[in-house]
This record gives sequence, structure tokens and C-alpha cells, in this order.
Amino acid sequence: MTVHRRQGAAIAAAACITLFAADRMSQAQSPTPTPIPTSAPAPAPGLAPPAAEAARPQPGDAAAQVESLQNDLAALQRLVPDQAHVMADVDYHFSSLWFAARNANWPLAEFYLGETRSHLTWAVRVRPVRKLSSGAELELPPILLAVLSGGIADLKAAIDKHDAHAFEAAYRGMMGQCYGCHVAAEKPYLRLHIPQAPGARMIDLRP
Ligand code: HEC
Repeated sequence: MTVHRRQGAAIAAAACITLFAADRMSQAQSPTPTPIPTSAPAPAPGLAPPAAEAARPQPGDAAAQVESLQNDLAALQRLVPDQAHVMADVDYHFSSLWFAARNANWPLAEFYLGETRSHLTWAVRVRPVRKLSSGAELELPPILLAVLSGGIADLKAAIDKHDAHAFEAAYRGMMGQCYGCHVAAEKPYLRLHIPQAPGARMIDLRP
């Protein structure tokens, strides 16, 4: 009984990680997530016993499988990047977005907006709740939703209209929203500025 419950939990967790990895892959490749047919439904490695073993169940198998799953899970967890790492990707995509629009390359701007959106979403999924110095917990998903329906939606509208003026206003507004979350997360030193050159970081290094 206990073994079954633990096994169930381990399978569910492994499936989550598998789906998460598939989601990451689709997000990294395209702004609209495409289903990855092969990886999502596939069981975690070590889950499905070889056919011969499955035919004759042995009492020790379940425990061995749980242990192997737990090892796989721990290995997968070590591969998931931390929130700052994913945010550095957001920085790169959002900075590239500025230059794509400056060059009136609207299809490229749309691509980088999609990357910004999907990586922001991923960054929040990596660590949805942050502990504040007061001991209170800051929930990031509601802030993300406000950003998606605010700055990101304004940028999309400007890009769709190929409107450089509306784009600049929306971009600056979005920078304010990015920074609003950094302040809420007690990181007021993560100030953004308009990037100076393609590939440049958006963090303002001046004190
Ligand atoms: C929902 C909250 C939230 C939003 C929105 C957000 N950030 Fe962040 N960002 C964070 C948090 C939290 C960290 C610190 C992560 C850590 O230290 O683990 C961070 C860190 C960063 C960093 C530092 C990464 C590094 O290691 O150098 C950059 C750059 C950054 N964000 C850029 C942006 C940009 C650009 C946007 C908007 C397009 C944005 N962020 C929007 C929460 C947010």
C-alpha cells in the first residue's frame, strides 16, 4: 500500500518534470507552444520494466523502481536552471526586442516578444513563491498575469500595427512592470534601462 502510494507520487512528480521539460523545449523553439508528441506521454526512464520482467512480477521490483525513479528525479531536478538564470534569458530576449522594433523588423519583434513572454512564464514557474525578509511570501503568478495582460499585450498591439511610437511607449511601460516585480521581490537594485547595443544587458549597473 505504502509502496504504491509512494510510487504513485514519484510517477506523478516524474511526469510533471517530463511535461515541464517538454514545455521548456516548445517554449524555447517557438512563441506559440507546440505539443511535443514524443516526450510528454513517455514514462520516465526506468519506469517501464523490460517485457520479460513485467511478465513475472517479483516482490522487490516496486521498491527498486521507486528508488530508481527517485534517483532520476533528483538528477532531473539538478538540471532545472534557477530563476535568475531564466531571467537572464528574459533580459536577452527583451533587449533584442528593442532592436528588432528599432529596425522595423516586425516579424522578428514578434518572435522576441513571444520569447520574452514564454521565458517570463517559465521564470515564474521555476519559483512561483518568494520568501520576503519579513517572513511573508510573495506570490509571483498574479504579478505575471498583470504583466501579460498589461505590458506584453500593449507591445503585441504596437507590433501588430507596426507602430514605432506606440511600441516605444509600450516598451517603457513594460520596463516599469518588470521593475515593479523586482521591487516587490526586494531586489530594487535590478533596475532596467533601454539597452545601448544589441546583446547588451538591460540591468543598469550604476549605483
Ligand atoms: C513576476 C516577477 C518578475 C517580473 C515580471 C520580471 N522579473 Fe526579472 N526577476 C525577478 C526576480 C524574482 C529576480 C531575481 C531572481 C533570483 O535572484 O533568483 C529577477 C531577476 C532579473 C534579472 C537578473 C538576472 C541575473 O542573474 O542577472 C534580470 C536581468 C531581469 N530579472 C530582467 C527582467 C526583465 C527584462 C523583465 C521584463 C521583461 C523582468 N525581469 C520581469 C522577477 C521578475
